[in-house]
Amino acid sequence: MNITQNIGIRICGTGSSVPTRTVTNDDMATIVETSDEWISTRTGISERHFADQETNLSLGTEAAEKAIAMAGIPREEIGVVICATITPDNIVPSQACLLQKSLGLTEQIFAFDICAACTGFLYAMHTARSLLCTMPEKKYALVVASELLSRVTNFADRNTCVLFGDGAGAAVITLDENSRYAFDCGADGNTEVLYCPKSYHNTNPFAASLPEQPEQQVKMEGRAVYSFAVQALSGSIRRVADQVGGYPEHYICHQANARILQAAAKQLKEPMEKFFLDIAKYGNTSAASIAIALDDCVRSGAVKRGESVMLSGFGGGLSYGTAYFTF
Ligand code: ACO
Repeated sequence: MNITQNIGIRICGTGSSVPTRTVTNDDMATIVETSDEWISTRTGISERHFADQETNLSLGTEAAEKAIAMAGIPREEIGVVICATITPDNIVPSQACLLQKSLGLTEQIFAFDICAACTGFLYAMHTARSLLCTMPEKKYALVVASELLSRVTNFADRNTCVLFGDGAGAAVITLDENSRYAFDCGADGNTEVLYCPKSYHNTNPFAASLPEQPEQQVKMEGRAVYSFAVQALSGSIRRVADQVGGYPEHYICHQANARILQAAAKQLKEPMEKFFLDIAKYGNTSAASIAIALDDCVRSGAVKRGESVMLSGFGGGLSYGTAYFTF
């Protein structure tokens, strides 16, 4: 038996950061045929932030600095840094390595990125916990999720461009033997309903013919993703509830569409009041969305110490996951 399997985590500090530029639904209506009424009633989104001068690193660094400040820990005790993102500044170095430098973290650190789209923060948090379990000399892990979805948004496609936003969130975590933990995750490889190709400038002089490069932009079958999301969310939450013997006091879920959370709440027969919503302010920020929502919950006092929480995500991959812990 693995004695570490139920060891909980303690969220020591959280932080978030969004670009200065706010873009309202009315602003979006100046570039595609849409309206504030359509966007807000179909999705719950009122505005989002798009990067101007900001980079993935600048947003991630600001969110992480706030999380470290709230945690009040010596930064040399951070032994793991993981960044969840699908919109990194570079292929190499990773965002996590750049964060090690920009935050002045120790060189004796495990630093890498995770690509799991909207489930990225959850996958990263679970991976960080697993690493802390196997490396007792590492006391704290910094989990950052930072996205500039404006880099991969087709601003001529009204079906998708009104949904996305840019931002970053971060959390400092440590192990807590007095806290319960449970996790569920899954993946179902699919390029049909949610797809963002990588475009390489191929200069291989030995290739007989070079394939045409696709546009590096998100393509989505909204209704199919919607159905997947409702099933994935309610199924994953139910499996974790079975593990811990009941539902939590709070749900902090990926903010893709308020209606997805309402439909999942209905399936679970759980009150909507337990589901935190901040999609109106940020839109869908992919991996960053749960991390930003967690920070909003903590700073607003919506979640208090000792209360039980489930974080739940779903999205590109397709991927999904849920984590249960006591805040
Ligand atoms: N403004 C006005 N009309 C629009 C817009 C818009 N921005 N976008 C679509 N429409 C139109 C459509 O063209 C369609 O018109 P038609 O009936 O004449 O063809 C009509 O509105 C209804 O379109 P639907 O797709 O049926 O709208 P729906 O109610 O399903 O909402 C939405 C669409 C919001 C995309 C929804 O399906 C959804 O939220 N899907 C899930 C998205 C998601 O969760 N993505 C997560 C992953 S993102 C990632 O991983 C980066």
